[in-house]
Amino acid sequence: MLPEIEQFIQKHYKELGWHNLSNLIRDKFQADISDDAIRKLCMRRGWAKPSLFDDDNYERNLFMGCAHIPYHDKELHKVFIKFLKFFKPHKLWIMGDYLDWYHISKYIKNPRKSGKLQEDLDLAGEMLDELVSYADEVLFMDGNHEDRLQRYLHQYPELYGLRCLTIPALLELHKKGIKYCGRYRDKPTTHHGFVIHHGLWSSIVSGVTAKKHFTEWGGNGIIVHCHKGGNYLKQQLDGIHGYYEGMCMCNLELEYTKATTNWIQGWSIAYFTKKDLFHLEQIPVVQHEFLFQGKLFS
Ligand SMILES: [Fe+2]
Repeated sequence: MLPEIEQFIQKHYKELGWHNLSNLIRDKFQADISDDAIRKLCMRRGWAKPSLFDDDNYERNLFMGCAHIPYHDKELHKVFIKFLKFFKPHKLWIMGDYLDWYHISKYIKNPRKSGKLQEDLDLAGEMLDELVSYADEVLFMDGNHEDRLQRYLHQYPELYGLRCLTIPALLELHKKGIKYCGRYRDKPTTHHGFVIHHGLWSSIVSGVTAKKHFTEWGGNGIIVHCHKGGNYLKQQLDGIHGYYEGMCMCNLELEYTKATTNWIQGWSIAYFTKKDLFHLEQIPVVQHEFLFQGKLFS
């Protein structure tokens, strides 16, 4: 969207409303922009508060992570976009390992893949641009693979602290209207009292990672680090608690994975009520297909 159109929207959205504004932009700038696109832009920029949640009795959240760009599953990404259009999340949480950051890992690397970091960032930027158009608000947090940048810069302290060498700057998150939730080792983000974090621990057994995070952090939450899709539910004196393992959106056969990796592709959704009750559903995707609310996505 042209900067002058954005400025025009920011200046006039309160007095004119979405619909009048879209008509005016069509006349003034010869640009075709829908009411919904204007509303989402205002949410992303933080100019207007989410309004859909005011109308609905619950807030729709979508949790995705571990795309490991450029090793993401391209067919899975297409199915994900179809789901995004259908689900229309109020909040889309990108929970880390969005890029693989292969080129700056400490492991031995294939020299034929070197020098491609900017290509990876450009591709990730294009994919983020697409995602922001389908959610009221997009939030981004680091995973252990984004943390590779921190660890890499620790070796070169003379570069450490440069504003251009941070995850938000390299991915231009602010420009895209994406909220940055923080570094991998920061305190976990909570939303409606629900912990949302990439995850610090990982087990090869489904459900064990969820149990470990419950044991360490307590409460309720979701992590994606293990790519397993398990969960751990616990009845306590103060009620039932649940931790959930997200799934991945990367190819299942990467250079560094083993035959027994046991990764599951997919994502999770959660509805939160205004009283902070939640209902979470994990959506495993098998061979690029899944069913949701009686509808087949493929
Ligand atoms: Fe991952």
